[in-house]
Amino acid sequence: MIRFLSAGESHGRAVVFILEGIPAGFPLNFDFINKELTRRQNFFGRGGRMKIEKDRVEIIAGVRGGETLGSPLCFIIWNKDWENWKEIMHPIEKSSTPPVTRPRPGHADLAGIMKFLQGDIRNILERASARETAARVAAGAVCKLFLKGLGIDVWGWVEEIGGVKAKWASLTREEIKQRICESSLLTPDLQAEKEMQDAIEKAGREGDTLGGVFRVIVDNPPPGIGSFTQWDLRLDALLAQAVMSIPAVKGVEIGEGFRLGRLKGSEAMDEIFFENGKFKRNSNRMGGIEGGISNGEEILVRAVMKPIPTQKKPLSTVDIRTKEKVPSWVERGDVTAVPSCCVVAEAMVALTVSSEIRRKFGGDSWEELKSNYYKYLEKIKEL
Ligand SMILES: Cc1cc2nc3c(=O)[nH]c(=O)nc-3n(C[C@H](O)[C@H](O)[C@H](O)COP(=O)(O)O)c2cc1C
Repeated sequence: MIRFLSAGESHGRAVVFILEGIPAGFPLNFDFINKELTRRQNFFGRGGRMKIEKDRVEIIAGVRGGETLGSPLCFIIWNKDWENWKEIMHPIEKSSTPPVTRPRPGHADLAGIMKFLQGDIRNILERASARETAARVAAGAVCKLFLKGLGIDVWGWVEEIGGVKAKWASLTREEIKQRICESSLLTPDLQAEKEMQDAIEKAGREGDTLGGVFRVIVDNPPPGIGSFTQWDLRLDALLAQAVMSIPAVKGVEIGEGFRLGRLKGSEAMDEIFFENGKFKRNSNRMGGIEGGISNGEEILVRAVMKPIPTQKKPLSTVDIRTKEKVPSWVERGDVTAVPSCCVVAEAMVALTVSSEIRRKFGGDSWEELKSNYYKYLEKIKEL
């Protein structure tokens, strides 16, 4: 099993995290981890904060000579913006800045002050902010490397922003991969990308924000991870929780998801063949998971991100002290963050799949895990 815990406020000193369960002797590529952090930050539609932060990981524990020790990994990502927030966010000295008292609809602000009995919404919004997703992306990058070592690739793309839908039916997988690498919005359709950019610019001018839909794919997963034997072992349920835990994600589908409800059983299932010594399907509407277990087909997770709640043209709210109607608090923010959300979701999927691989194949060392993994793949052929 792989465990991940993070700490850190949006404008605090840093975001830190512990990642436990990567076996000993695994080589880490820090360049790749930092590139993933940059991917999260640099898409079209993101706000000013991303121009300040140039995220980089610093390793604190768990690695020696570029290889993991099998002990917990500890990483730190410093917040450059801390310099501008030292007075407000000082851990010891009380700030003289007035409290935030105008909760933003769609944020944790109001629910959070009621839960934690706080009079300053800053005490809520700092940790509820999506800044913590930087830690998820760095931890997910370690897991992506771990999976790549087993020939498994986790990647994704943006399908839709602000109602503009991308098309990719005529493209090969390689073409999709190449296009999304070059895209400012992580989308394979150049025409749709332009329309999405226009929609984002228009929303920005109007002080508004946009949401959208994205997908994450796991290429070449092993069969047999996850289980139907208990509710909390099902792979589809674990993936749904991992992706739904990302701030602003409001729906998750596995495979064809909600569309399955509109099909007949005969149209929905993926029929089974046996060819060249392998079980095969001609379709993958179940998204690579049956009975809570990976069936060896690619795993497909789709999700929807709601529009960013903070609006430059503020929504109506109530001041928590006076109870009067006021415009809600405005914190600097993005017009849309759907591509970044997709990168975070790739990280969460990589974390979940890595954890389930570790659960099934054990292995304190990378060598042992790989040996168990490939032996199992051979064993399946004897069925
Ligand atoms: C990558 C990413 C970036 C985000 N950027 C912002 C932002 O700039 N402003 C904002 O108000 N919300 C932003 N959000 C969304 C909020 O964090 C989220 O809506 C809020 O914490 C409430 O959580 P909920 O939508 O899950 O209820 C972002 C989310 C993600 C995943």
